[in-house]
Amino acid sequence: MITIKNVVKKFGDNTEELRAVNDVSLTIKDREVFGIIGESGAGKSTLLRMINALESPSEGTIFIDDVDMHQLSERELRMQRKDIAMIFQDYNLLMNKTVGENVALPLTLHSYEEPLEVNQVLEFVGLLDKKNQYPRQLSGGQKQRVAIARALITRPRVMLCDEPTSALDASTTQEVVNVLKKANQAFDMTMVIVTHELSVVKQICDRAAVLEQGKLIDVLNVKQGHVGLDNEQSYYVQVKEVLEA
Ligand SMILES: Nc1ncnc2c1ncn2[C@@H]1O[C@H](COP(=O)(O)OP(=O)(O)O)[C@@H](O)[C@H]1O
Ligand SMILES: [Mg+2]
Repeated sequence: MITIKNVVKKFGDNTEELRAVNDVSLTIKDREVFGIIGESGAGKSTLLRMINALESPSEGTIFIDDVDMHQLSERELRMQRKDIAMIFQDYNLLMNKTVGENVALPLTLHSYEEPLEVNQVLEFVGLLDKKNQYPRQLSGGQKQRVAIARALITRPRVMLCDEPTSALDASTTQEVVNVLKKANQAFDMTMVIVTHELSVVKQICDRAAVLEQGKLIDVLNVKQGHVGLDNEQSYYVQVKEVLEA
């Protein structure tokens, strides 16, 4: 379980202070697919990056199970991060390495107790035949599936996805959504997906937090079609319309 409590992230100085995340509290359950949605600049990426301590909160706490992610030594943090994988909008693949080498990369950086095998995860994402090719030879959707395979090889307990489909067109978005869904089911992991694409939320998320200017507006039960309180704020109204349809 991920427990985010009264988290504030301030940027800037006292004269021009920005609260990118403003007093957000929420709980993400084990094995849940949890969306974080909102317009550009709402604070989604900042909130996500605080979960694996790439950013530290100005106030508040973030626990994964009973571990306070922001009270760890460097060494403890390295250990904790082994259970957390992350994928990004722009894939972050190494262009001079083959698909297989990219996928194997995490295993060259740390030792893992029960990692999967390169062939196994490539097969899982449907790209075993691309193992010896280079990223430049692949489509965007295929590159993102390579990034997912690289994330899965360590058997993470938590997978953080920052706009995983935002660089993709509709059909390749579908490929990636399908692989993420399948991964959540096959590997018993908690997924947090930041996106501004409501169709993605609707297809894959169990619940989704709506952020607006750093503030948590509501947490929607996507699967139950329940969308919470009435609220006249613009982005929120659009969210409701799409998710209730
Ligand atoms: N390192 C930083 N320094 C200063 N401001 C930042 C930094 N990172 C993000 N911000 C600001 O915080 C706000 C939220 O950013 P971000 O979390 O990236 O939003 P989102 O992912 O929802 O688009 C934005 O106004 C952004 O400009
Ligand atoms: Mg972002």
